[in-house]
Amino acid sequence: MHRTSTAVVTGGTGGIGEAIARRLAADGRTVVLVGRSDQRLDAARRRLTAAVPEADLRSERADLSLLADVRALAGRLTARHAPPDVVVSNAAVIAEVGDTTAEGIQRTLATNHLAPYLLLRLLAGHLGDRPARFVVVCGAPRALARMPVDLDDLDCATGRGLGPVPSLRPFDCYGRTKNMNAMFVNGLARRLDGTRITVNGVHPGVIKGTGLVRSSRGTLRILAAALSPFLRGPDAGADTPVWLASSPEVEGVTGRFFVRRKPVTIAPHLTDPTRCDRLWNESAHLVGLSPSMAAPADDEG
Ligand SMILES: NC(=O)c1ccc[n+]([C@@H]2O[C@H](COP(=O)([O-])OP(=O)(O)OC[C@H]3O[C@@H](n4cnc5c(N)ncnc54)[C@H](OP(=O)(O)O)[C@@H]3O)[C@@H](O)[C@H]2O)c1
Repeated sequence: MHRTSTAVVTGGTGGIGEAIARRLAADGRTVVLVGRSDQRLDAARRRLTAAVPEADLRSERADLSLLADVRALAGRLTARHAPPDVVVSNAAVIAEVGDTTAEGIQRTLATNHLAPYLLLRLLAGHLGDRPARFVVVCGAPRALARMPVDLDDLDCATGRGLGPVPSLRPFDCYGRTKNMNAMFVNGLARRLDGTRITVNGVHPGVIKGTGLVRSSRGTLRILAAALSPFLRGPDAGADTPVWLASSPEVEGVTGRFFVRRKPVTIAPHLTDPTRCDRLWNESAHLVGLSPSMAAPADDEG
């Protein structure tokens, strides 16, 4: 039991994130569910409490596609409580390529990459020398090896290199952001070397019964339906993220990428320090942080 542990799970209102939250709550941790809708947060809390009656749950409403909400979330997570010692960055969307947020950023880029970049950097600044584990839910490393991040076109604005099938382009854009997750793990782990914070990436598996492709159309929707009978459900997807968040087997392990509890080698374009640093610096510019982790965290909401 981990009565003194607080685990934040973004996108804890359904799918793999809810399964991760359930397992961490059953382990005795206080679990903070982060979601963008009070209604879906309440519904998830009801389901989690039914499954784990002793669960100690908190909810934080934040639309992670908005940098202002992410900053405010980081502020709330650290204002009245000690910073969380487990953070599972799990929330993601597959938005249309031309869909931009009220802050003018492509929605998939904002939600899937810039939100964890900003949140984990701000939380790391508050953790100081406390121990913590950051787990970033990424994508399938073998499939995504063919979709290197275009560092000159992070928001896919030019459409360059996106596939020829229009209904699959949102997935290509999504795939690049999941590759950004892996590059961010590399960059953050290097910068946190020497601290007691570990950061690892994980592919949860191809999982059915989640909301990820609910607003997709055409080929992607047909593919998802055809694959469904062969796929495992959200509990299977939660297994490696929860293991990374909690197992003594990975104490002190950082900067690695895991599939089914095994470390795997990922495409060189995801670990190349020059590429990872370019993404880091460009992301810092987009979220309004200094590229340096040593700079004071004067930017919380
Ligand atoms: N399913 C798979 O086969 C698969 C494969 C590889 C990787 N993954 C990764 O696994 C993770 C979980 O995906 P999933 O399949 O469980 O999909 P999901 O059911 O759609 O879960 C995504 C979660 O993110 C939340 N979310 C989306 N946009 C948000 C925003 N702007 N602000 C706050 N929360 C937001 C969703 O909340 P709402 O309820 O409000 O929509 C939902 O709780 C993702 O990182 C995904 O990339 C999944």
